[in-house]
Amino acid sequence: MDRRELCLGAGSVLAALPALASAAALPLPTPSAVTALKITSLIDLEEQAQKVLGEGPFTFAAHGSGAEWTLRENRRAFERYEIIPDYLAGRNPPDLRTTILGSALSLPVFTAPIGAQGLIHASADVGMAQGTTASGTLMTMSGAATRSIEDVAAAATGPKWFKIYLPQDRGIARSFLQRAHAAGFTAIVFTIDALGSGNSEALARTGFDVGKAMAEASAKSGAAPGPSAPTKRGLGWDDVAFIQKESGLPVVLKGVLTPDLAKRAIEHGVAAIQVSNHGGRQTDGLPAALEVLPGIVEAVGGKVPVLMDSGIRRGVDVFKALALGANAVAVGRPALWGLALGGHLGVQSVYDRLKQELTSAMQAAGVDRVDQINAKYVRKIA
Ligand SMILES: Cc1cc2nc3c(=O)[nH]c(=O)nc-3n(C[C@H](O)[C@H](O)[C@H](O)COP(=O)(O)O)c2cc1C
Repeated sequence: MDRRELCLGAGSVLAALPALASAAALPLPTPSAVTALKITSLIDLEEQAQKVLGEGPFTFAAHGSGAEWTLRENRRAFERYEIIPDYLAGRNPPDLRTTILGSALSLPVFTAPIGAQGLIHASADVGMAQGTTASGTLMTMSGAATRSIEDVAAAATGPKWFKIYLPQDRGIARSFLQRAHAAGFTAIVFTIDALGSGNSEALARTGFDVGKAMAEASAKSGAAPGPSAPTKRGLGWDDVAFIQKESGLPVVLKGVLTPDLAKRAIEHGVAAIQVSNHGGRQTDGLPAALEVLPGIVEAVGGKVPVLMDSGIRRGVDVFKALALGANAVAVGRPALWGLALGGHLGVQSVYDRLKQELTSAMQAAGVDRVDQINAKYVRKIA
């Protein structure tokens, strides 16, 4: 019996014994199962992950800010588009490969930066990096990782970017950027939309202290800790210039939601735009990333790649985002649930499922390559 089964077993025993119900609040051990997953739907993974994660870690990862309108809107936005098929047109099987900023990807989907992975699986960011690399795609390491820059770089032997939450102290910021460059990361993702710790009411209700739990997870792992420093709050274009200069790497601006900001980013030499509302985790009331994507793509005019995340759960979602002009999309929670349930093999199962689903969407549309997916294959229905 692996540890996952043990956890599930303990849960069902407690449910059967009302006298012990308060014991159900005891923290579950961090999952450590390493196994391929049989995935029917990536949507189902969240519920399965909930069973192996403690209430605090699960609520932290799954929930969103405020009333969670943006979190729900991220999914609803995909339901407002339908795919226009074109049968008897494509080759079998379609080629899913693409290249973003010189990195060759096996599919136009990659791993978004996700902090605190040590709360989700014992292998933490290292397992995520291994699973992402084995899937042939790009790993974005979070600046709030539970493992060191060097350990994650060593595990991500394929394409890798480092995401920075800019430290307040310029010296520390410089050292993170230089370490990332030296470790082989080929771009810096600058997240601009996380100006506070988010406002998850669901998390607040649990009383779970993410910072303390991360420090404990880090200490328990015995591995070198992740990068950590008080972050700079007021951000500006001078910070973009600082990151460009000190890292010597292309900068991806993550969190862009307006055409105007995208245009200014290009004027400031940004190498790619990541349209994102942080998976609905920061400011509730922001629009769905998919909703604003077409306007941003138009403003960018092909000058730099446009990436997108927030709400991708299916291959047809990937297809719709690409049809609306994204060059590639990132997944956050689906990859995280794969990690929780199966470590690096679970992450690989998530990507395998996305490959299958995207393949069938492309076959229905009759497109051979991802760069042929365009606006003629989708229609807005509401
Ligand atoms: C638990 C968790 C931690 C995250 N940590 C970070 C982070 O450190 N930096 C960042 O830029 N985005 C972070 N994100 C946001 C993701 O990069 C991404 O924007 C979002 O998860 C995409 O939405 P999705 O989860 O619906 O796929 C985090 C998301 C989750 C779920």
